[in-house]
Amino acid sequence: MKIGIIGSGSIGSTIGKLWSQAGHEVLFSSRNPEKLSGLVAEAGSSTTSGTVQDAVAFADILFLATNYWTLDEALQNMGDVSGKTILDATNPYQYNDAGKVVRAIPNDISGGTLLQEKLPDSKIIKVFSSMMATIMAEKHHKQPLLVIPYTTDYEELKKIAEQLITDAGFLPIYYGKLKYSKPIELFGKYSDKVMDEKEATQLFEADFKERK
Ligand SMILES: NC(=O)c1ccc[n+]([C@@H]2O[C@H](COP(=O)([O-])OP(=O)(O)OC[C@H]3O[C@@H](n4cnc5c(N)ncnc54)[C@H](OP(=O)(O)O)[C@@H]3O)[C@@H](O)[C@H]2O)c1
Repeated sequence: MKIGIIGSGSIGSTIGKLWSQAGHEVLFSSRNPEKLSGLVAEAGSSTTSGTVQDAVAFADILFLATNYWTLDEALQNMGDVSGKTILDATNPYQYNDAGKVVRAIPNDISGGTLLQEKLPDSKIIKVFSSMMATIMAEKHHKQPLLVIPYTTDYEELKKIAEQLITDAGFLPIYYGKLKYSKPIELFGKYSDKVMDEKEATQLFEADFKERK
């Protein structure tokens, strides 16, 4: 697949490299693409770099991994993303005046749902938000595979989500619709929780029962 990375920082570069190693064509983007030459040299010949607009033109699949406080600016830079599939790894937090990490959006909505509302003509998958990039860089493809949960409102996107999670070296589990994304975002109960298949299946099944 052709994948455009929006925000080639810790998580964008980590997952982008794993996808390129799995044979995908990856364009890493930045507001200053010239600073990505080292990343592209390291990531290999199936990768390239460019502007945010280059990434949108290059790929129908985008990986959104910008800081939350610049998200609206990034969405503006992206322009028209109608019809695109967007894997959203962002977490809705910001720093308050005391330098403390605080939630950036109301409590009754997930970041995934809010993004889908901002981009009604794109299809959002919430994924890779729940685990530290450093852990993923270390544990990918290692047995037992670590679970990466994802949410989406689109049945037809499950196959793509699961392929991309598998290709990055993890075990995908569908967690539910986007409105259930909070547990897999920062501050959620699965934030930074390292789980194998057995543990995740048990925990998620209990969650599903609670929702009925
Ligand atoms: N780091 C983790 O362990 C981790 C894990 C899961 C999820 N996340 C989430 O993923 C997101 C990124 O985290 P990170 O730690 O990777 O941050 P980071 O290392 O600071 O990288 C963020 C990237 O966003 C880009 N960016 C910022 N504003 C932009 C804009 N207006 N337009 C386009 N690109 C913009 C920056 O690229 P340029 O300055 O080059 O344009 C920067 O490389 C956050 O929402 C975070 O909560 C992080």
